[in-house]
Amino acid sequence: MSNRVYFFDTTLRDGEQTPGVNLNQEEKVEIALRLEQLGIDVIEAGFAAASPGDAAAVRAVAQAVTKPLVVSLARANKADIDAVIEALSGIKNVGIHVFIATSPIHREKKLFMSKEEVIAKAVDCVSYAAQHFQHVEFSCEDATRTELEFLCEIAEEVIEAGATVLNFPDTVGYATPEEYADLFQYILKHTKGVEKVRLSCHCHDDLGLAASNSIAAIKAGALQVEGCVNGIGERAGNVALEEVAALLETRKDYYQKETGIVLKEVAKTSKLISRLTGISVPPNKAVIGKNAFAHSSGIHQDGVIKDKTTYEILKPESVGFMETKLVLGKLSGRNALNKRYEELGYTISPEQLKEVFSKYKELADRKKEIFDEDIIALLETNSSVNNQTYTFKDLSLQVLANKDYRAFVHIVKEDGTIIEGIGEGNGPVDAIYKGIDQGLHIQAELIDYKIKSISKGKDSIGEVFVKIKHGDSLYQGRAIHVDIIFASASAYIEAINRFVSLHPDYVVAEMK
Ligand code: KIV
Ligand code: ZN
Repeated sequence: MSNRVYFFDTTLRDGEQTPGVNLNQEEKVEIALRLEQLGIDVIEAGFAAASPGDAAAVRAVAQAVTKPLVVSLARANKADIDAVIEALSGIKNVGIHVFIATSPIHREKKLFMSKEEVIAKAVDCVSYAAQHFQHVEFSCEDATRTELEFLCEIAEEVIEAGATVLNFPDTVGYATPEEYADLFQYILKHTKGVEKVRLSCHCHDDLGLAASNSIAAIKAGALQVEGCVNGIGERAGNVALEEVAALLETRKDYYQKETGIVLKEVAKTSKLISRLTGISVPPNKAVIGKNAFAHSSGIHQDGVIKDKTTYEILKPESVGFMETKLVLGKLSGRNALNKRYEELGYTISPEQLKEVFSKYKELADRKKEIFDEDIIALLETNSSVNNQTYTFKDLSLQVLANKDYRAFVHIVKEDGTIIEGIGEGNGPVDAIYKGIDQGLHIQAELIDYKIKSISKGKDSIGEVFVKIKHGDSLYQGRAIHVDIIFASASAYIEAINRFVSLHPDYVVAEMK
């Protein structure tokens, strides 16, 4: 049995199914490039048939990365497969991921199909897909609630039809590690032709067993693990790939597996995904949480001071956490800034350096001490919304007699028009958001508002993340600034820009 485990990242597909997460094309490409640095073998870039935007993003990702193989999901029907063929046409190192549900529950209650019909459909679609792609992954959705004999039966047929990877998802997070391992052992033992394909595991975390189940599958012979960095995804999420990677590395003595994962890229990847999806990493999350390497009890601290290995099985720096340094001062020059970025693992172009250096100077005027987190945040201040229809300009606030606030907000439209909005609310942010709504004639519901400081100190940069609802859809916005009121207004306007970029016919009547 080979000892190489392939990592398949589905952040851009299953991860994007996380409620409220919607990534635009630029963001998907940015994540894919980061996943490439992390050493991911296969990137599932989306679901091409879902919308023209999804198809375009799948294509853009496939064009942007060089090393990882890029696939798109397709249901077992010709139209979905055609959407993938079109999205990936002419691009090298691409493949397709076709799935159909196999469990009795899904067959009887969702598909209304017999076992024979499910097999016929799967074979039909896999052979059609195999005429266009060398890499054809086939998934038995809800595999862990499917009869084992039926899994072998369908597996044999799709191998014959040209599948190259067979995936057995624990779609609803129902399996236990022992059962999941048994499933793989059973398939390996009873499926004709199984030696020709790679077996893959795909676990959801509904009962908190995604990592245990994935590792049990790998031990039993799965050669590919599917999941998302930070464990995002449908419902309780997918397995957190960084946990599986750190486990295989830390316990190489036991599992004896090789991977292509560059562990020290984990922290950067996790931060990017958290920032772009707006989903914070819980402080106690394994491997990537803020507290994952913090020792607070006296006994532990004493041990760690004497020898780190007493309580540390994984070094924070091995997954890319660097000791935060107080960086440059107000008088530091461009070269010093560039050098620190290099030390932190960021390569930036001369144009980027020029832009970020002027922001750095502005920040240094307002903030006494500047930390690594601050300069990283400066690199990331550019909005990833394509259509920057509106930009926040400035505002003034009045405190009213009843302690309510009145905000006068100025917004610049891309053609230079200044729009003013006036709003009253029971706090400054409430008043500002009402002012923006009034100025832009928009009725958006604020679903989520989060604020956190990027680094240390009372004068730290604040990061604001908002989620708004317009109609049935959610739009997110994020902004950073030393002035949290400024950041709050900008984040809200970024969310509105996201809505506007998807609804270009939305017309705002400007106030003269
Ligand atoms: O969880 C699942 O079953 C899936 C399939 C579409 C592969 O995500
Ligand atoms: Zn899934």
